[in-house]
Amino acid sequence: MSRVIGIFSGKGGVGKTTLVANLGAALTGALKKNVVIFDNNIHTSHLGLHFGLYEDLPVTLREVLKRNIPLTQATYIHPSTGIRIIPAPINGDGINLTRQQCAKMTKQVSKNYDIVLLDCAPGLGNEVLAPMSAIDDAIVISTPDVASLADAVKTIELLKRMKKNVIGVVVNRYKNQRYQLTPQEITSTTNYNIIGIIPEDDNVQSSLSKGLPVVVASPNSSASKAFKKLAASLVNEQYTEPGFFDRFRGMFDFSMPKIDMPIILQPKINIQPEPIIKREVATLKQTKNELLRDVRKEMKKELKEKIRRRLKERLYA
Ligand SMILES: Nc1ncnc2c1ncn2[C@@H]1O[C@H](COP(=O)(O)OP(=O)(O)OP(=O)(O)O)[C@@H](O)[C@H]1O
Ligand SMILES: [Mg+2]
Repeated sequence: MSRVIGIFSGKGGVGKTTLVANLGAALTGALKKNVVIFDNNIHTSHLGLHFGLYEDLPVTLREVLKRNIPLTQATYIHPSTGIRIIPAPINGDGINLTRQQCAKMTKQVSKNYDIVLLDCAPGLGNEVLAPMSAIDDAIVISTPDVASLADAVKTIELLKRMKKNVIGVVVNRYKNQRYQLTPQEITSTTNYNIIGIIPEDDNVQSSLSKGLPVVVASPNSSASKAFKKLAASLVNEQYTEPGFFDRFRGMFDFSMPKIDMPIILQPKINIQPEPIIKREVATLKQTKNELLRDVRKEMKKELKEKIRRRLKERLYA
């Protein structure tokens, strides 16, 4: 039976998309599950960015919603990791995802996958209510601070009113600092178990700049281990920390998961990680060299001018 799991937070920027990208990567890669990650954050979509997707693909949710194109045609395979992704358009202007549309799409997609992970918008408005009504289970993510926790509590209340199963709470960007809320405080405030604690880890942001989830870019980082542990617990499997030699093996393990795909996922895309940063560095270098060239030219010109002036002065003196 397929499970549709929505990731919610209430407050924005606490790590929903990061969680979806990394759970998707860990479930597909290490755990070899038949998973699709689905961006339901139409107006501020970011899921594609975690896979180096900086431009719209030929078919996006816009075409699916406006031109009634099957969702399978907006489902893509990330080349190096095999992750299945349904990205939202980069610019979601003019699209409103209704509850009916969301329910129809998740039903469609759940026929082909065992797990569907929905990346949702922040807030508690219609953009959240649509995916909320379409899911079976929910994970609520919060950072260990009062603002985020307050919105997580509101989200949990909403989910309970909609009779959805809340699997538990994920605490993200945990630093074990005195100014942060403790896991115990979060559990007693939400009345839900903490199913994962993801530490604050610079590798998360550096991997985003490479256009790869951290479990792929830095598989042995502290955040990656926490994401993999959480992914394993979601499918009732045991996560074992990599041994010394496994670490090296992990570096070369980019094999595609062996999944019996009943549908053709069209078209395959060629996502190239790291283009933006490389391009920026290149442009910077170029500008610097061009500037130096211009300065040298100017200096030469001035020098020539000076010499000419001196010669003239001597000639006519
Ligand atoms: N564990 C972590 N350590 C360090 N940085 C993190 C961690 N988790 C998330 N971040 C960073 O926090 C920022 C926000 O994360 P993300 O986009 O996943 O949040 P979100 O809840 O999806 O935001 P939105 O509400 O806008 O959709 C990103 O720059 C991400 O790289
Ligand atoms: Mg997001």
